[in-house]
Amino acid sequence: MARVLLLGSTGFFGRAVTHKILDAGHQLRVLVRDPMKAAAYKVRGAQVMTGDALNPAAVNQACQGVEHVVSLVAVRRNKPQSMFEVNADGPRVLGQVAKAAGAKSVVLVSAIGARLDQKYKYLTSRWMGEQELAKSGIPGTVLRFSLVLAEDGGILDFFQRTSAFGPFVIIPGDGKTQMQPILREDAARCVVEAIGKADLLGKIVELGGPEVVTSETIYDWFLKARGIKKPKLHVPAQLLTPGAAFMELVQVDPIATPDEIASTQLPNIADGLDSVTAHFGWRPSAPSTWVSEHWKKRIK
Ligand SMILES: NC(=O)c1ccc[n+]([C@@H]2O[C@H](COP(=O)([O-])OP(=O)(O)OC[C@H]3O[C@@H](n4cnc5c(N)ncnc54)[C@H](OP(=O)(O)O)[C@@H]3O)[C@@H](O)[C@H]2O)c1
Repeated sequence: MARVLLLGSTGFFGRAVTHKILDAGHQLRVLVRDPMKAAAYKVRGAQVMTGDALNPAAVNQACQGVEHVVSLVAVRRNKPQSMFEVNADGPRVLGQVAKAAGAKSVVLVSAIGARLDQKYKYLTSRWMGEQELAKSGIPGTVLRFSLVLAEDGGILDFFQRTSAFGPFVIIPGDGKTQMQPILREDAARCVVEAIGKADLLGKIVELGGPEVVTSETIYDWFLKARGIKKPKLHVPAQLLTPGAAFMELVQVDPIATPDEIASTQLPNIADGLDSVTAHFGWRPSAPSTWVSEHWKKRIK
């Protein structure tokens, strides 16, 4: 069992990773901005330290004495911190500090589609973060995931907001973007099994579930599970962009930003349908059969 530091433990995906690391018997330390969010982890025996993942002194203190570091820290939007600071500078700080502190490896969770392309600011910031981690010289593994699904949070929040808004359910574009969703439990298992896995060091691994479906199919799963019968309206992404740009200016938490709308049109699929099996030796569950039972009711 290893001494592990986890950053990003309080988010949608990080919560599941935290519990899986503890279930696996590792000695866990988390660095969080709000210790109240980590109260349940402390009860389970994790050491909770308070600090921002962009603060080198806080990260340095958190890295002392740990063997492996896992980071799920990322933001999709520029408020209150900039995407480039969090997603690109964050991994640089982490890589440099973890290396100096003597950690053996870092697992960085990223997203499929990460690329250097100014049309996609979030995806560019993720690509930069991956590069910054590699440049720091610490042995590292990047796990890029497709869409992660769970009983609460993530894309469900988006579906709940958009399906409650107006007389139609608006589908950006033609709804045919290919996705390879993976259940959060399975995605978290991959992250935990990647810790200290020598054959993954130096690699960027793209992971998804056992099915490729369209973005509209995933929305249909949600509408069916909740019994929502509103008509669907396909709106070209270019037509949604001006409204989204305005909302981004005037709202604290708009439904979608222009950058997010643009990236919904990009395929979000892994290195093959058996990507998890190829790297970890087990088969993830099929979301298509899972959602009908688990998306029926809203979980607060
Ligand atoms: N959700 C998906 O479908 C999906 C798909 C593919 C990949 N991923 C990847 O999974 C990772 C986590 O995503 P998520 O959906 O769980 O996002 P999330 O719910 O927004 O969680 C982000 C986490 O990062 C932390 N964080 C952000 N800025 C920070 C800072 N400056 N200092 C310290 N902590 C900071 C947040 O802490 P606070 O609680 O303090 O805000 C939170 O714990 C990301 O790398 C994302 O790309 C997610």
